[in-house]
Amino acid sequence: MLSKKVQDAFNDQIQAEMASAYLYLSMAAYCEGKNLKGFGHWLRAQYNEEVSHAMKMFDFVLERGGQVALKAIEAPAVDFGTPLAVFEKVLAHEQHVTARINSLYELALAEKDYPSQIFLQWFITEQVEEEASASEIIESMKIAGDKGNSLVWMDKELGKR
Ligand code: FEO
Repeated sequence: MLSKKVQDAFNDQIQAEMASAYLYLSMAAYCEGKNLKGFGHWLRAQYNEEVSHAMKMFDFVLERGGQVALKAIEAPAVDFGTPLAVFEKVLAHEQHVTARINSLYELALAEKDYPSQIFLQWFITEQVEEEASASEIIESMKIAGDKGNSLVWMDKELGKR
């Protein structure tokens, strides 16, 4: 059984994961509106990943006999600037999510909730990967630039995800 504190924190994180999904979907729309189909493809895949993160937590709360309480999701931005700025925002957002996951893990430690600790280890590992892939894309765009031929190449690369 989940403690009320841990249950509430998981419900907050379900909301944060769904808000992340919504943010990436808005970024996908923005990029596709600028004919960056590969960027859009990458961001749509990210949207799906975030929904799956929320659903992992949703299932875990139910499995532990807790109550899922879904919360309102704020409207995301609609304009994200240059292609490089889009991915800088992805990275900043993932760093924010990492901090949230770490706090959730700290709470599971404080509450001596061992199943939650084990469950959250997957998310801790996942965040390392999420930050690394955004950083890699940013570094490539910084080296090659995010205009002209370089942008066309990057759009193709992102479309392979
Ligand atoms: Fe669910 Fe991108 O962290």
